[in-house]
Amino acid sequence: MTPSYEECRQSFDWSQSARELGYEDGQPINIGWYCSDRICEQGLGQKPALIWEDNGGREATFTFDDIRDRSDAIAAHLASLGIERGERVCIFMDRLPELYIGFLGVLKLGAVVQPLFSAFGEESLGVRLENAETCCVITQMKHVRKVRRARKTMPFLRHVIVVDGQGKDLKEGESAMTMTELEHPADFRCAETGPEDFSVLHYTSGTTGQPKGAQHVHSSLISQYITAKWVLDLRPDDIYWCNADPGWVTGTSYGIIGPWANGITQVVLDAGFNSDAWYAFMARHEVTVWYSAPTAIRLLMRDGTELVKKHDLSSLRHLCSVGEPLNAEAVIWSEEAFGKPFHDTYWQTETGCMVITNWPGMKVKPGSMGKPFPGIEAAVVDPKTGEAITEPGKVGIIALAPGWPSMIRGYRNNQAGWDKKFLNGWYLCGDQGSIDQDGYFWFSGRDDDVINTGGHLVGPFEIESALLEHEAVAESAAVATPDTVNMEVVKAFVVLKPGFEPSDDLDLAIMNFIRKKLSPLAMPQQIEFIDQLPKTRSGKIIRRILRAQEFGEDIGDVSTLMNDDD
Ligand code: WT7
Repeated sequence: MTPSYEECRQSFDWSQSARELGYEDGQPINIGWYCSDRICEQGLGQKPALIWEDNGGREATFTFDDIRDRSDAIAAHLASLGIERGERVCIFMDRLPELYIGFLGVLKLGAVVQPLFSAFGEESLGVRLENAETCCVITQMKHVRKVRRARKTMPFLRHVIVVDGQGKDLKEGESAMTMTELEHPADFRCAETGPEDFSVLHYTSGTTGQPKGAQHVHSSLISQYITAKWVLDLRPDDIYWCNADPGWVTGTSYGIIGPWANGITQVVLDAGFNSDAWYAFMARHEVTVWYSAPTAIRLLMRDGTELVKKHDLSSLRHLCSVGEPLNAEAVIWSEEAFGKPFHDTYWQTETGCMVITNWPGMKVKPGSMGKPFPGIEAAVVDPKTGEAITEPGKVGIIALAPGWPSMIRGYRNNQAGWDKKFLNGWYLCGDQGSIDQDGYFWFSGRDDDVINTGGHLVGPFEIESALLEHEAVAESAAVATPDTVNMEVVKAFVVLKPGFEPSDDLDLAIMNFIRKKLSPLAMPQQIEFIDQLPKTRSGKIIRRILRAQEFGEDIGDVSTLMNDDD
């Protein structure tokens, strides 16, 4: 049971979490070991760790013993291929058991695991492999062609492992690995990684430049373990479902590490969104705790409460949400539909763990993100001075005092980008928000041009660069436009090259071009052809003017924006 917020706020220190984990300073700390071997040592080896299903009716259950043995075997297999500690191994796969167990395996080898969303096209995949100088990609037949195309220019990528590749037509440098047939190595030793050793590498989008590699370390576990336990209110008999894909940080911090480090049984559904199927899945497995996202909740709302009532969801005890603003209506609807509110949580790839949360048992103010997790010092600061704003309700930039265990240690090969995130001793989240008189945080919007579509951040630069590769595009600007379900979707303003005329066909062709190269998320849902883009005096495109038009906002004096060249 989660203790009371006030009690924790006063007495909590991260060392409390380390103590619960039995971790002492100076010892090795390996997330792979803590998520499997340690749980087995506690006598829970026979407990289901992963109950997996796909939409084709396939099912599998893996106990903690199974995930310990199989992750050891994967680590040993990678080592036999010559993959070394510290090297980057990408997992590019649908939500197969191999993704979850392989994630632990890579960590047990002491290598860095780079999970990438399997819907990425070759270009989104390619820039991330390039930046990480990834030495190995673990994938499946369904996605191997994209890896082949991306791989052409990558001498550092030595191995492609295909988990369902046995007996298939594989190319040079590719090998099959059938997880269930790997021998368990009797003499296996988990890498004795230290607290500052790199663990997970997630890519996140910014406004400028290509995506940034957010570098996590093994001691992030200390934050992820206790936040999962308390905020998700995890208890030993829980059946927990996090419907996020491990290509994104929610799917690793709380879809692998947090629950397994707590010895909790997780269910995974490798299928797209479908309200009826989701409810049936939860009812079948008697899910007790569910971590979801506002876009999914809005889609469920659209299908109504009648459908909810068709299923027996009485097992559900606690609901949480993350990724985008959870509107008050969604919280109120969930009370009506499930008899309990969704608890909003706020965090980022960079924070590694939840930082502002609606604590179990604490009054929920629908529309608010809640209060800082004990051990996190959060504020709203003035964007110019970095001084904390004390006036209730006044909007500033959400900021955190650096130093909690799961804060990333930087962006890979991008020190300048990381340095820009700090002001006056604060880490700036890049979001605007305010704090009310009771200490609750309220989100107002992002402070940059990054587009948040269905809880996924998409960088305008990545889209604009890809658009430029289309033969008809001279220039473009990608901005957010409002959407009732996804909150925001991508809209592209395009200036055509001479000789090209706007048409519906061209519209579609450009959309598909981006969908294939990048991903369905990055695909513009709307394209507007225009003669020229708004620019600063030195020629930088001002996306903010276009975005403001989309949202019907007042942008004030345009001439100041035109001088704004930082
Ligand atoms: C950005 C981080 C961390 C898990 C998923 C996203 C937005 C996140 C909330 C929330 C309003 C939210 C912010 C944040 N965001 N949670 N509860 N209310 N906005 O991780 O991809 O790094 O995105 O998502 O803009 O900065 P991410």
